[in-house]
Amino acid sequence: MNLAIADIETLSPGLKRFTFTGAELPWAGPGSHLVLEIPGAERTRKNAYSLIAAPDGAYRIVVRRVERSRGGSHWLHDHARPGDVLEVRAPQNFFHPPRNAKRHLLLSAGIGITPFLAYAQTSGLVYELHHCCKPEEAHSFRALLPQGANAVLHTNREALNLHGLLARQKLETHLSICGPESFMDHAISLAKSLGWPPAKIHLESFGSANWGNPFSVRLKRSGITVDVRPGESVLEALEAAGLNPPCLCRGGACGECRMSVLEGTPEHHDHYLSESEKTSGKSMMICVSRAITPELLLDF
Ligand code: FES
Repeated sequence: MNLAIADIETLSPGLKRFTFTGAELPWAGPGSHLVLEIPGAERTRKNAYSLIAAPDGAYRIVVRRVERSRGGSHWLHDHARPGDVLEVRAPQNFFHPPRNAKRHLLLSAGIGITPFLAYAQTSGLVYELHHCCKPEEAHSFRALLPQGANAVLHTNREALNLHGLLARQKLETHLSICGPESFMDHAISLAKSLGWPPAKIHLESFGSANWGNPFSVRLKRSGITVDVRPGESVLEALEAAGLNPPCLCRGGACGECRMSVLEGTPEHHDHYLSESEKTSGKSMMICVSRAITPELLLDF
């Protein structure tokens, strides 16, 4: 779809809300994300952003300006103007509130609150949201929450008693987490140590290619070799080479982009593979994971 930026609002020095409009926007429930094609000096970036509300004639996202941007957030913050038209993939959703859950514990940090802003507007959803953020951004995040939201903002992450919070939940509760890799890793390992079954833990991630060292990817079935630069994902490198590998979340959470590793050692950054699968090194999520060895041979 070609969608026009209808409005850009500055929420804080590092946060902007973008409103997109276009003809006949497909419906999108809570947890949906858009993939924007963002122009760049060297190449177009495809970045995924959660919709912060159900469409009402427009799609809305909030974007953080990250200092070490690979292009997407800087372009949106510094160059995008109302009236600009972007290529946007129709919303996809692999992070909808689990339907069999009676209660939801939602944990987020930083820009990870965005999918939960849509959850908080879903009627009938019984939830408790705990969001960690910088003190200077608390006001902006609070203003995005609907009136009466069952949300607590924590401006000191150390002071949040995550262990106690996870331990006191009722059995019927499902846990959903979204935020930076370190925050998610900590919350997941605490939940597992307390006996939360994996089926009740749901993840959304805004991970992107980590910077790391350059490496090469040899594709067994396609018969080509592709160089992956620092700050670029294997997925992006394959797309730039004209290939169309499967992907959905582009953040290491959905499992869609999993590829078999035939040679070489991957460096995992996803939240999808189990620890034993990561240790075996036999597969990897190409949207976020990199290589320890100078070359990987993938079954693609
Ligand atoms: S696209 Fe979802 S894990 Fe890679």
